[in-house]
Amino acid sequence: MTVQLEVVDLNKLPSSFEVLTQAEQTYYQTLRVPKRRTEWLGGRLALKRLILVQTGKKDFKQIEVLPQPEGKPQVRVDGQNWSGAFSITHSHGFAVAAIDSQADFMGIDLEKIEHRIEAWKTGFFHPDELTGQGDEFLTSLWTQKEALVKLLGTGLSINSFDVRCVKGKPQFFGAALEIFKQLGSPQITLTTSTLLPGFMFSVAIGRNKSKAGSCFTE
Ligand SMILES: CC(C)(COP(=O)(O)OP(=O)(O)OC[C@H]1O[C@@H](n2cnc3c(N)ncnc32)[C@H](O)[C@@H]1OP(=O)(O)O)[C@@H](O)C(=O)NCCC(=O)NCCS
Repeated sequence: MTVQLEVVDLNKLPSSFEVLTQAEQTYYQTLRVPKRRTEWLGGRLALKRLILVQTGKKDFKQIEVLPQPEGKPQVRVDGQNWSGAFSITHSHGFAVAAIDSQADFMGIDLEKIEHRIEAWKTGFFHPDELTGQGDEFLTSLWTQKEALVKLLGTGLSINSFDVRCVKGKPQFFGAALEIFKQLGSPQITLTTSTLLPGFMFSVAIGRNKSKAGSCFTE
C-alpha cells in the first residue's frame, strides 16, 4: 500500500499565516463562510504535511495548493507543478489528505454515517448501484462515487448516474467514460473503510501502467 493519509482535527488548526502562501491567503480571504474557510485551511495543512515529508522540504510556504477553474486543486512546490497523485476531503470537523507516489490519479472522500432521505438515494444513485441498504451502505456508496468523480477531476459537474459503483467496482458511462478514456483508461483500485468512528472513507487510485482496467462500458 503506497497511499499516505493525514487527518487534521479542524478544532486544532494553527493560524492561516503559518500555513498559507500569499496567493493562498488572498484566496482564503475571499471565502466568506467560516466553516468553508476552516475546511479549506485544514485540507491544505493535511496535504502540505504529507508533501513536506515526501519532498524533504521544510516550510509549508514552499508548497502552494490552489483551485483550478473547474475546482480540482493544483499543487506547486517551490513554484513548480507537482505531479504526484493527491486528493483532499473534509467532513464534520475533520480534513483528510492523501498522496500516492505510485499512482497517476487519485480521489478520496470522507462522509459521516447519517440517515438520508429516499429522494437523495434515488436521485443520486443508479438502481444498479443499490445492491444493499442501510445508512452505512449508502454512505459507503456515496464516498465511492465522490472518490471516483474526484479521480476523474470532474467533481459532481457530471451526471451522477454516469459514474457508478456496483459491488465495489467502478463503471463509467457517457461523459464520464469519455474522460476516463482521455486519462488513458487507468486501472482503478477502490478501497472503503471506517477511517474514523462514525464515518465512511473511500480512496480511488488510478494507475496507467497496466491497461487492464476494471471498468465496464455500455
Ligand atoms: C468535488 C466534490 C465531489 C466535493 O465533494 P464534497 O463532499 O462537497 O467535498 P469534499 O470535502 O469531499 O471535497 C472537497 C475537495 O475536493 C477537491 N475538489 C474539488 N473539485 C474537484 C475536482 N473537480 N476534482 C478533484 N477534486 C476536487 C478540493 O480539494 C476540495 O477541497 P478544497 O476546496 O478545500 O481544496 C463536489 O463538491 C463537487 O463536485 N463540486 C462541484 C463543484 C460545485 O458543485 N461547486 C459548487 C459551487 S457553489
